[in-house]
Amino acid sequence: MRAEEMFFDREGLEMATREEVAHYRAWRLRDCEKIMDLCCGIGGDLLALGQQAEVLAVDADRRRLTMAQHNSQVYDLQKVRFIAAEVQSLRMNVDAVFVDPARRSGQRKRRGEGYSPPLSWVADLRTKVSRLAVKVGPAIPEEDLPPDCEVEFISSGGQCREGALYFGQLATTSRRATLLPERHTLETTAGPDVVVAPPGAYVFDPNPAVVRSHLLDELARKIGAWKLDPQIAYLSSDAATDSPFVRSYRLIRWQPFQLKRLRQTLRDEGLYPREIKKRGFPMEPPELRRRLSLPPDGRPITLLLTRLRQKPVVLICEMQGN
Ligand SMILES: C[S@@+](CC[C@H](N)C(=O)[O-])C[C@H]1O[C@@H](n2cnc3c(N)ncnc32)[C@H](O)[C@@H]1O
Repeated sequence: MRAEEMFFDREGLEMATREEVAHYRAWRLRDCEKIMDLCCGIGGDLLALGQQAEVLAVDADRRRLTMAQHNSQVYDLQKVRFIAAEVQSLRMNVDAVFVDPARRSGQRKRRGEGYSPPLSWVADLRTKVSRLAVKVGPAIPEEDLPPDCEVEFISSGGQCREGALYFGQLATTSRRATLLPERHTLETTAGPDVVVAPPGAYVFDPNPAVVRSHLLDELARKIGAWKLDPQIAYLSSDAATDSPFVRSYRLIRWQPFQLKRLRQTLRDEGLYPREIKKRGFPMEPPELRRRLSLPPDGRPITLLLTRLRQKPVVLICEMQGN
């Protein structure tokens, strides 16, 4: 982004879509010639959409709309028009609409009905336009996700940054997890149930977008892995994988979790936990690190704290290349 030439306020910038996410989503709307960008804010999405389509950008906040206007000039976008309006008052006269509702702060911020405009109003647009895409927060509860759309969660910089709903012709599957910047994508597939079994030679920590999309079984089948526990998102296999959807660890050993025994094992073998992660385990990693109180000069390893058959265990691992 040419940040030095652009106009934005702090809140507008905080709400704005990251550039690589905006470009990816614009790519998903690549067949749309005319798009309404509802709730355009300072123009994070607009700058990507406006490079490929005619866009009508709408926001109720005039100040922010002026910033979006300026920013689109910085990018020399020729086919973008602006309207200051409440989006609920508009007639939808294009075939594609993108909406990025404001997610209010406070208690209801995660719920779709706490969005402005509310998610139920936004999702109703699917009856008026043939292509609808909606940005949602990654923490939106499952029960707030409409059933008749594609739900995609996007990871950028290793974190699950946001979700998007695609309706009508834009929907290509029911769930999707996409990793940026490479655009690796994993989608719903049918297949046999994934086995649950104790750890093999390798343990895999799936990307948060895969976990959030509930595509763990798809991933396990794809990389030939099994689950350590039906409810926990660590996978395992006796074979290594170079899948971009996981962080891979070679298992050194695993043992039931007991603080004293773990400290002894690490001391005896000269290991130092450079990284401590957990899933389904009661103790927080910083607390364990403090209670282990080990000198940092051992061989660096990773501790994965989790449970097997309801019992707390620790997996002592070595991180692999990815
Ligand atoms: C999350 S921000 C949009 C960010 C934008 N997509 C970007 O990347 O810069 C949400 C915007 O929705 C606008 N908004 C909220 N409710 C609205 C409504 N009912 N009508 C029009 N705009 C609205 C807010 O003014 C705010 O600018």
